[in-house]
Amino acid sequence: MCGIVGYVGHRDCSDVLVKALTGLEYRGYDSAGIAVFENQKISVAKSKGKLKDLVDKMKVEGRPKGFAGIGHTRWATHGEPSDINSHPHSGAKVTLVHNGIIENYKELKEFLQKQGRVFLSDTDTEVAAQLLDYYYSHIKEPVKAIIETTQELKGSYALGIVFEDFPNRVFAVRRESPLIVGVGKSENFIASDVPAIIEYTKDYYLLEQDEIAILDENGVRVFDNHYQPVVKELKTADWDVDAVGKCGYPHYMIKEINEQPTAIKNTVTPRVKDGMPCLDECNINPEVLRKIKNIYIVACGSAMHSGMVGKYVIEEIARTAVTVDIASEFRYRNPIIGKGDLIIIVSQSGETADSLAAMRLAKEKGAKTLAIVNAMGSTIAREADMLIYTHAGPEISVASTKAYMVQLSVMYLFAFELAFAKGQIDEEKYKYYTAKLLETPEMVEKVIAQTTEISQKISMKLLTADSLLYIGRGLDYALSMEGSLKLKEISYIHSESYAAGELKHGTISLITKDMPVIAVATQSALYEKTVSNIKEVKARGAKVIMICQDGNDVPKDIADYVLKIPTFEEILLPMLVCVPLQLIAYYTSVQKGNDVDQPRNLAKSVTVE
Ligand code: AGP
Repeated sequence: MCGIVGYVGHRDCSDVLVKALTGLEYRGYDSAGIAVFENQKISVAKSKGKLKDLVDKMKVEGRPKGFAGIGHTRWATHGEPSDINSHPHSGAKVTLVHNGIIENYKELKEFLQKQGRVFLSDTDTEVAAQLLDYYYSHIKEPVKAIIETTQELKGSYALGIVFEDFPNRVFAVRRESPLIVGVGKSENFIASDVPAIIEYTKDYYLLEQDEIAILDENGVRVFDNHYQPVVKELKTADWDVDAVGKCGYPHYMIKEINEQPTAIKNTVTPRVKDGMPCLDECNINPEVLRKIKNIYIVACGSAMHSGMVGKYVIEEIARTAVTVDIASEFRYRNPIIGKGDLIIIVSQSGETADSLAAMRLAKEKGAKTLAIVNAMGSTIAREADMLIYTHAGPEISVASTKAYMVQLSVMYLFAFELAFAKGQIDEEKYKYYTAKLLETPEMVEKVIAQTTEISQKISMKLLTADSLLYIGRGLDYALSMEGSLKLKEISYIHSESYAAGELKHGTISLITKDMPVIAVATQSALYEKTVSNIKEVKARGAKVIMICQDGNDVPKDIADYVLKIPTFEEILLPMLVCVPLQLIAYYTSVQKGNDVDQPRNLAKSVTVE
């Protein structure tokens, strides 16, 4: 996600801002910029690339000199990484930096354009800047203008703001996206996170929802959104810089597991209009969808596993044939794909070599290409005919969790859109499914709370295993693939996912006493059959961990552990069940003392064959 910093004090502001931004580099970013008061004017320097690129650019073009200003590292969500899309963004008198997503930016942009305002970038942030400038031009008072503006903004934001008419003063306001106010000795800061300011001060205020801070030579003042002063409790960071980068979590992976509700919200909510999916911005319309004959979902690793879930969902409700393929296999098997077919490439990084090659091959053969990508402006994103960005924010841990989760959420959006376009579901069902999808952030929150402790307990029982099986049927089988990969890649314990109904055709010979078998049994239509398969492995001595719904009646003595998830719309259960599968893998790795975030032999993005 983006990083925000601000400074008012006695030091060289540009220097402080750049240094503070390096403390936020762990968040991942693709461009950076600063705005500094210089001779009563706001001077901006910004560029695509890393902070080093910004510093190099300032060496050539000049570095703003002053004692107050704001800075930003951007993780692109709206508008690809470029100089012009980098923050800060400005109106006539206002310049600001933003972390979050303005969900209603389109309507606001249309309104402002009707007022004659011209936009230079593709970002939602520039809309916020121009809207604030619009209100300030009428109200002439910065805090009142901020209050008016934020009442119109929908979505999440933390804003660092400077007004040209108020030199050497920095303003800040937040909703959803975190923002702190650092309190130093005759200098003050704003920042998205403590690492940005830890070199200067450990004392800070946590801005609460809709609170507005003013930093100037008199110190820090905080107001609520009724312009009433707020007395803040001063906190002192006792984390080391690295821990703070994880916001207090011991590892990025567990932080990213807990970020999943917000990631889903940021990915799904802006794509729902009047209770129905709206993918127009992704070049996806009913006309195009109606013409699709066959669908191929091609990806690697967890991304491919999200495609497996997508297959079951799309075939179930849109009645369109879906083939899921590992990208490194697809690209070398001379695939039968062509005009009228759609290939869906799923990739968190958007740079995976095999997935990119598969997309290019499909394009050469005349197929339409749709990319589901998390990294803005990545190669796969740029080359696809149609594109749906996921908004998980940067995923630092090598083991994918929140990116996989939001890939699932986009699979559902696409499946509902396709099914409705093809007349396979009516508007009522279309809205019902969409409403249920909108409930998933809250449901995932519940599952995290409900299954964290038992996942930790279960992980203790896996530590000495040589190998284990993950079994399931239908959607549960697709999920068991992801559970198995998660465990393997970070705990280094061998596991294999297996279709529960297929065990008896050979693999059941592997079952020995106390061999752990994780059985996913959430789909009612297949529940009895899966229970029979569980009994088969139990009878041969397996130690069974069963994952099912709260409402399921679990036969006595069938499982050594039963991990229950809340009852919910079954077709959406993969978004709930993946959480305990992630947690079991995480805690097993932690117990084994492995490097959870950087497991041996692995890279976050495999940009080579
Ligand atoms: C996921 O836990 C793995 N680290 C890995 O399988 C990953 O999903 C795969 O390499 C695909 O990466 P991509 O999504 O960036 O294309």
